[in-house]
Amino acid sequence: MRTSLLMAAAALSVGAAHAADPVVGRTKANAVCAVCHGPTGMSMVPNAPHLAGQPAIYLVEQLKNYRSGKRPHEVMGVIAKPLTDAEIEDLAAWYSSLQISVQIP
Ligand code: HEC
Repeated sequence: MRTSLLMAAAALSVGAAHAADPVVGRTKANAVCAVCHGPTGMSMVPNAPHLAGQPAIYLVEQLKNYRSGKRPHEVMGVIAKPLTDAEIEDLAAWYSSLQISVQIP
């Protein structure tokens, strides 16, 4: 009974959408993205945007657009090129999970 349930679950998960994992995304982000976008998604360099708290749907779209060249950019084009859809979803899950607060002066 237990085995057949597990097998049914495994069969269902084949071909199912990737479940975006912010923990996996964080590891990738720290290795590749943090040098410019900061370890907390707050940018380290003046020409790179903050990513913390951006909606995942927006981040996924931008990364796919850099990858395809639809949004041309010298640096991000090169960085996005090797990313898989799953990696993009994990990265977006990480940055969108970060909570930011804004103070009105
Ligand atoms: C060498 C510095 C550098 C690195 C490393 C880098 N980026 Fe960027 N990123 C930039 C710059 C500069 C821009 C602004 C590009 C533009 O004007 O379109 C940018 C833009 C972006 C944007 C668009 C944000 C927006 O507001 O539209 C996303 C998303 C992004 N980067 C994600 C990533 C991810 C994920 C990684 C790691 C896999 C990464 N970047 C690594 C410099 C970098």
